[in-house]
Amino acid sequence: MSMRTTLSIIKADIGAIGGHIAPSPELVEAVRNHVAVHGKDFVIDFNISSTGDDIAILCTHTRGVDDEKVHKMAWDAFTTGTQIAKQQGLYGAGQDLLKDSFSGNVRGMGPAVAEMEFEERPNEPFLMFAADKTDPGAYNLPLYLAFADPMYCPGLMLSPKMKDGFRFVIMDVNHTEGDRVIELNAPDDLYDIAALLRDNQRFVIEGIYSRTTGEQAAAVSTSRLHNIAGKYTGKDDPVMLVRTQNQFPATGEMLAPFSIGHYVAGFMRGSHVGPLMPVPRNSTTSFFDGPPVVSASAFCVQNGRLTSPADAFAHPFWDHIRDHVSQKAIEIRRQGFSGAAMLGLNELEYTGIMEKLDRLETEFQVRDHKSAEAAGG
Ligand code: 13P
Ligand code: 13P
Ligand code: MG
Ligand code: MG
Repeated sequence: MSMRTTLSIIKADIGAIGGHIAPSPELVEAVRNHVAVHGKDFVIDFNISSTGDDIAILCTHTRGVDDEKVHKMAWDAFTTGTQIAKQQGLYGAGQDLLKDSFSGNVRGMGPAVAEMEFEERPNEPFLMFAADKTDPGAYNLPLYLAFADPMYCPGLMLSPKMKDGFRFVIMDVNHTEGDRVIELNAPDDLYDIAALLRDNQRFVIEGIYSRTTGEQAAAVSTSRLHNIAGKYTGKDDPVMLVRTQNQFPATGEMLAPFSIGHYVAGFMRGSHVGPLMPVPRNSTTSFFDGPPVVSASAFCVQNGRLTSPADAFAHPFWDHIRDHVSQKAIEIRRQGFSGAAMLGLNELEYTGIMEKLDRLETEFQVRDHKSAEAAGG
């Protein structure tokens, strides 16, 4: 008997060892205990992992997306963990909990959320992605390549189940008064999709749906902390769920674009550009508070019960990619603050630079040619 299952990932940075490197084991344990105890009446199964300094709760249930009980349980797990983070003197204790009290839904309160409700297929493989030191636009390119480009996803031309392509729901994340979205179809609207997705800071894929069956294939957390808090609060460190195989891209087709190690926004102080490094679960960050990292956990689910995760980026193939990404990181870091290495002014996560520019503004002088000539003789 198939059933309607909801997968929820709710992820937050509630404090880290040595700056922004990794949560402490005690913190992860506190979150795990909280979910085990307070979710036991409605959570069917769950898995806790970390990526960089972020802790992700993956849980299964039948309550649908945006459910108050599920979100409150996760919020409370993170506030409970924050107490431990404070006791341990961890850096940025409670960093992503931007509101003082829970109000119905963690969306817009700091944690990253990606959820999907679906009728389970007889076999139901999916991938959970968690990234640190970057923002939700980091998934734009891999999703585009896996769901719209036969160069990366041969299934688009080989499988009759994918021949109609996919519907992309794309959000304008600069619009903070509500959800401003557009729906475009691949392959028909390919150039329009590309025109939006080139701007990773403004246009972010929120969801992808099969045009053959209507089923949802992908869900991405779209929150921009920058836009919620209006000031520096760390990067958004996005999570994503992708159902794979059969009418969707194969697991390997979804993983393939991550071999590019494409340059994304984030890295040190959320204000730079760095290559996205695929890493195993529970990896730390290091060089220049990065590089930006992404983990991929492969699961199957049946009747809401999760298998243990297969750690998709732990395979030796990715060691070679990581060496290449390290080279890319070193190359762009060689030019420091100059040009493409740093984000544009409106993406810098600090006010210090604006204060400097405002002050210098008053010291600029427009040279008067006549008096310059006179002075020069
Ligand atoms: P996080 O968003 O992962 O906390 O990183 C913040 C930062 O500024 C790293 O330099
Ligand atoms: P502080 O300026 O408080 O050290 O924060 C910077 C930061 O978190 C980037 O690592
Ligand atoms: Mg942090
Ligand atoms: Mg983080």
